[in-house]
Amino acid sequence: MCGIVGYVGPQQAQDVVIEGLRRLEYRGYDSAGVALVVAAETGGSVVTAKKAGKLANLEKVLADDPLPASTTGIGHTRWATHGPPTDVNAHPHHGNAHRVALVHNGIIENFADLRARLEADDHVLVSETDSEVVAHLVELQVQSGESLTVAMQRVCQRLEGAFTLVAIDAEDPDRVVAARRNSPLVVGVGEGEYFLGSDVAAFISHTREAIELGQDQVITISRTGVDITDFHGHPAEGRRFHVDWDLSAAEKDGHDWFMRKEIFEQPRAVADSLLGRRTRDGLLQLDEMRLSDEEIRDVSKMIIIACGTSFFAGMVAKYAIEHWTRIPVEVELASEFRYRDPILDHSTLVVAISQSGETADTLQAIRHARTQRSKVLAICNTNGSTIPRESDAVIYTHAGPEIGVASTKGFLTQLIACYLLALYVAQVKGTRFDDEINEVMAQLEAMPDHIESVLGDCEQVYELAREHLDTRSVLFLGRHAGFPVALEGALKLKELAYLHAEGFAAGELKHGPIALIEEGLPVLCIVPPRGRDQLHEKMISGIQEVRARGARTICLAEAGDTRIEPYADVLIRLPKVPTLLQPLVAIVPLQLFACELASALGHDVDQPRNLAKSVTVE
Ligand code: M6R
Repeated sequence: MCGIVGYVGPQQAQDVVIEGLRRLEYRGYDSAGVALVVAAETGGSVVTAKKAGKLANLEKVLADDPLPASTTGIGHTRWATHGPPTDVNAHPHHGNAHRVALVHNGIIENFADLRARLEADDHVLVSETDSEVVAHLVELQVQSGESLTVAMQRVCQRLEGAFTLVAIDAEDPDRVVAARRNSPLVVGVGEGEYFLGSDVAAFISHTREAIELGQDQVITISRTGVDITDFHGHPAEGRRFHVDWDLSAAEKDGHDWFMRKEIFEQPRAVADSLLGRRTRDGLLQLDEMRLSDEEIRDVSKMIIIACGTSFFAGMVAKYAIEHWTRIPVEVELASEFRYRDPILDHSTLVVAISQSGETADTLQAIRHARTQRSKVLAICNTNGSTIPRESDAVIYTHAGPEIGVASTKGFLTQLIACYLLALYVAQVKGTRFDDEINEVMAQLEAMPDHIESVLGDCEQVYELAREHLDTRSVLFLGRHAGFPVALEGALKLKELAYLHAEGFAAGELKHGPIALIEEGLPVLCIVPPRGRDQLHEKMISGIQEVRARGARTICLAEAGDTRIEPYADVLIRLPKVPTLLQPLVAIVPLQLFACELASALGHDVDQPRNLAKSVTVE
């Protein structure tokens, strides 16, 4: 939810920290702050600047009133949980003596109790946050003579909930100490300098060498190295890895928004997600899969759990997995999953889909599944994140960093991973012949070109978006694999343009929602390709029904579909692809529509109001 940065090395810490925060701002943008240790020879103190609102507000404060030089510092960009986004609630927080400064991502569940005890001991807490109590507790420990590292270990033993914490001590200017439980933290390894970040984007311009930390670990960084322990001071280890994308992937590359850049990156992201998935003799291979053929053959049911856009990818996956493998699939919102006491056993494969790999609802759901002896397979875009680490198997999506809060290439590459999973299981279980699998693989490998051709027609969609500046409500209709596309199209419009938008299964409309139709209401219709049962004809009937009641129908239909022409007020052409794969092309105009409309309305497309990129609280 929040973005966290730490630095020790030869560079000016303020510059490194602010640059890191800029790259992490997508994680939260309610306020930002930085704290530096000013070395003993200039007084031995911690100096802080923090400001409500976006990072630009903090940068203005720093430009008007620069902090002293320092090479050790921490920073934070906030998505508010406890207390509104004000200057006082902004991080870093301090203890009473202002000796320790600390930033926090997550939620300290027992903070009220800890706060009451501190206040009973005459501590003055100035903010409404749960984080400030931790700063006080760490400071008490260092004041009693403990090192910052031991102080952090001791305090972590008393905390309940989810947290990444990063702290500095005015009397220990050469180190930054951090800890994590159920919340992300990675370490960047440079030459004589070390970095901490909520994700690698924080330090990617300095180093691509990183360390992933385990659960319940404390890390101390200094100019000479890193030291990792558990919360009780026992030595522990992190996992070294090399980041396989570079700075250019985290920059806008000439686009006005990260989201637009990421939409246009989709042909490459899809191609990358398909790379290396076949052996020389054409068989599918999923390297990171870590499930044996025997375990796959034993699977009698799959449950897909995810949130938001990833949930809609899961809905599409259900059609493909059931069709190709004949294994029954349930799709469930991660936030609901464990509360309904789901029926799970060792033959249930739980598939957790998460772009960030840090979504708390999804993480808690997979933990529940594993306590019930089910295997968990993660579909994830973020190497080093918690969800794949806590899963039995993983398929990485290789989309590269997704910075825009609205998921785009994350969605398309999740679909690719789901198709690959379905085909792989079909291969292992023998529910599809090899030539059938090869045919679908060839169709998938043609997708980057098809997506490119949809992007080539973006001007038509942009113009359409600009015609809808005064629209207050938009409906989306789909059937079969087009239904989740309708839901995803509506979500994009809600989160970016702040419009009332709803997606419906077209056949369901007549059971109630058709009452919403009124003169001129825009209805975006995802028309299925011809040839799959009666789907196409049934969709046309639904379109006629809304049009007869005054709706303005904007139809997305495959090239050569002439049957749709009399019923489409606006026709957006899609390439001719199989029904199950149509979501890969049909969602693209809906992404472009939402991006352009939000942009024309003057909204911040990359950082929509009230949202954060990864939701690390339940
Ligand atoms: O990182 P995850 O895939 O687990 O995130 C799930 C949702 O929070 C995410 O898809 C969200 O709905 C996006 N803002 C949608 O654009």
